[in-house]
Amino acid sequence: MMIDLSVDLGFLKLRNPVLAASGTFGYGLEFAPFIDFDKIGGIVVKGLYFGPREGNPPPRLVETTGGLINAIGLQGVGVEKFSEEVLPKLRELDTAVIVNICGASDEEYIQVIEYLDRQEGVDAYELNISCPNVEKNGFCPALDPDTTGALVKQAKAAGRRPIIAKLSPNVTNIVEIARAAEDGGADGISLINTLLAMAVDVETRRPKLANIFGGLSGPAIKPIALRMTYQVATAVNIPVIGMGGIMTAADAIEFLIVGAKAVQVGTANFIDPASTMRIAGEMKDFCERKGIKKITELIGTIKI
Ligand SMILES: Cc1cc2nc3c(=O)[nH]c(=O)nc-3n(C[C@H](O)[C@H](O)[C@H](O)COP(=O)(O)O)c2cc1C
Repeated sequence: MMIDLSVDLGFLKLRNPVLAASGTFGYGLEFAPFIDFDKIGGIVVKGLYFGPREGNPPPRLVETTGGLINAIGLQGVGVEKFSEEVLPKLRELDTAVIVNICGASDEEYIQVIEYLDRQEGVDAYELNISCPNVEKNGFCPALDPDTTGALVKQAKAAGRRPIIAKLSPNVTNIVEIARAAEDGGADGISLINTLLAMAVDVETRRPKLANIFGGLSGPAIKPIALRMTYQVATAVNIPVIGMGGIMTAADAIEFLIVGAKAVQVGTANFIDPASTMRIAGEMKDFCERKGIKKITELIGTIKI
């Protein structure tokens, strides 16, 4: 049976709904020994600030039950080196390339977009609105509908490419933030980023992370991610990309059923670097078993 796994986000067509999540897949090229890029929907590269960054001091990763807490602090090479050394190689890959955009101020987000806009080989920008803003006492735009809407609007005006606003789960009302992103002109929404978390060493009574707090990801967060994806997908008219704890095709399909048009796979890449490719393959098997000819037949089909 021929199964059509392709999905159309309106602004971007993907061969299948599985993307690699930002920060868990390097700049993509590191995964060349493990996966065939033409078997996944695409990659979202590690978040880019304008200049290079060291990130936080170690320890900055700790395992917890069913999850991982990271406080990497957005280490990266910066947009110039990325454009000169990484992007030319990414252009040769037969897969969608989405760049995760960071900024310590609204201006920095815009600078990154303006620089990348002059380069070829990027399909869309994913706006990481969870970055601490140094001019606002570390307050993240994603925590408030007004700052979210304003930043999305500026980002949209600054560049020629589609903007996917990536939402933070560390809010009371995710729908209000999603609507603000949509009103600001976002072409799509992705969610969720990590949940603010902490772990303590009982011997030393010290936090396990040098940064005290970090972001929780992995299977532990999947039910929360799914709930938020459902809430947002039923509230907005732009495509939603769901993520959080996806380890298997069944996990990914849950997100499609609640209304996501595509998914991202993050922490699973640390356990099995071929996770994205495996999950896409397992999705095809699922469709075959169920007699589903097009993966899109599953999207938004939750029975309430
Ligand atoms: C080590 C690590 C680094 C991350 N770096 C970024 C990043 O640079 N930008 C971003 O938007 N999200 C980043 N994330 C969040 C993931 O893209 C994803 O939203 C989150 O981990 C939930 O998905 P998962 O449970 O499948 O990992 C990072 C996550 C991890 C674990």
